[in-house]
Amino acid sequence: MEHLNTQALRDLLEVGVSLSSETRLDRLLDNVLEKVRKIIDADAGTLYVKEGNKLRFAASQNDTLQTRVSAVERGNPLLNMTFPISKKSLSGYAAVTGEILRIRDAYEIKKSEPYGFDRSFDKKNNYRTRSVLCVPLKDREGQVIGVLQLINNYNKQGKVVPFSEFHVELVRSFASQAAVALTNSQLTEDLLDSYYDTVSRLAVVAEYKDKSTAMHIKRMGMYAQTLSYQLGFSQEDAECLLYAAPMHDIGKVGIPDAVLMKPGKLTAAERKVIETHPQIGAKILEGSKSELIKTSRVIAMTHHEKWNGTGYPQQIKGKKIPLVGRIAALTDVFDALSTSRCYKNAFDMERVLGIMRSEKGQHFCPTVMEAFESALDEILSTYDRLYLKAEAKTKKLKIKK
Ligand code: C2E
Ligand code: SIN
Ligand code: SIN
Ligand code: FE
Repeated sequence: MEHLNTQALRDLLEVGVSLSSETRLDRLLDNVLEKVRKIIDADAGTLYVKEGNKLRFAASQNDTLQTRVSAVERGNPLLNMTFPISKKSLSGYAAVTGEILRIRDAYEIKKSEPYGFDRSFDKKNNYRTRSVLCVPLKDREGQVIGVLQLINNYNKQGKVVPFSEFHVELVRSFASQAAVALTNSQLTEDLLDSYYDTVSRLAVVAEYKDKSTAMHIKRMGMYAQTLSYQLGFSQEDAECLLYAAPMHDIGKVGIPDAVLMKPGKLTAAERKVIETHPQIGAKILEGSKSELIKTSRVIAMTHHEKWNGTGYPQQIKGKKIPLVGRIAALTDVFDALSTSRCYKNAFDMERVLGIMRSEKGQHFCPTVMEAFESALDEILSTYDRLYLKAEAKTKKLKIKK
């Protein structure tokens, strides 16, 4: 009787962990395929996602050919490639019937079977597919949502052998876990899209009234996530900040345009008005059960407090300011300095960093500032990607008009 070794068990557990904490579908599918192949020792494998009456390649790996393609690499033409589901292919048969297929040798499938093996991939790549295991992924209602296909099972002696009954059981239990994760992450993807959309719309109403706001809120989230990783947050908590930080200025919806959009310096009275935006934001986000919104509320309320106690609205000081507020305070100023606003141009990076460093222990929490220094490369690459490159594109478009 075969049994799982302890490393394989650990891998299986690890998949469980990554399935629950992984919210991005692309990484998840790639990861699922890798882990299940490792556990079973399959040379190759493909994960198909069912979309309408088609199957789409989501991830594909082959050790012999040394290929690993996943939807993570967006440009790859293999991904997003779809084919109509038909009983004639192995994966299609599993998708249509919901049955598991275990094939000893793909080249010796009887003519009487409804399915057959398409050798064109093998021919093109000089590969020889022998044993195949095709398992449909089903959601809670038993509907097929994808197919997991494993190819060429190696035994301990390095020989290709058929997949065993034991593997079928293993993959079956595994597939249901993956299917739940797939359903969840599809939901999550959709929620996140609508979340970003909503926050951008609110931000456009609230602030710059133009498209650059969408990039601003993404940068805020990315910077905050980077700093929280650096400060030792768990992946889940760092991801929470990624989506909570963009809402810090939501209270600006309550500030009159004449003040918010004023091209020049604010008067003392106008400053008073603008300084109410943290409380307005906190009020908007009050009373939610969602951890994400709760964190957003804390950030909205405290992102203008300063480490030395001279901020607003409560003039709280040092560690009395929640850590997420101290993180947002720093990333907010970094973004305000390094990009252009209706009242100021972007400063060059040397000047930005000069101002930032002079505020360590004054405006900024020293620990958060140190995390910023340690993660500076990553911060600057986000800045490059989500500001410089994005701006250059916008300018080109404007010139064309
Ligand atoms: P914001 O533009 O997102 O700026 C956020 C924070 O970045 C500011 O908070 C401030 O701490 C920092 N910051 C921005 N520009 C500079 C700068 O040139 N030098 C330095 N050392 N720090 C800078 P603050 O001051 O509490 O302002 C909050 C919000 O009030 C700003 O958000 C902006 O919407 C508005 N605001 C501030 N000053 C002006 C202004 O002179 N004119 C206009 N129209 N709005 C202003
Ligand atoms: C495919 O599904 O087209 C690849 C191999 C097979 O399942 O026949
Ligand atoms: C908002 O302003 O309402 C959202 C966050 C931002 O633009 O900084
Ligand atoms: Fe603010």
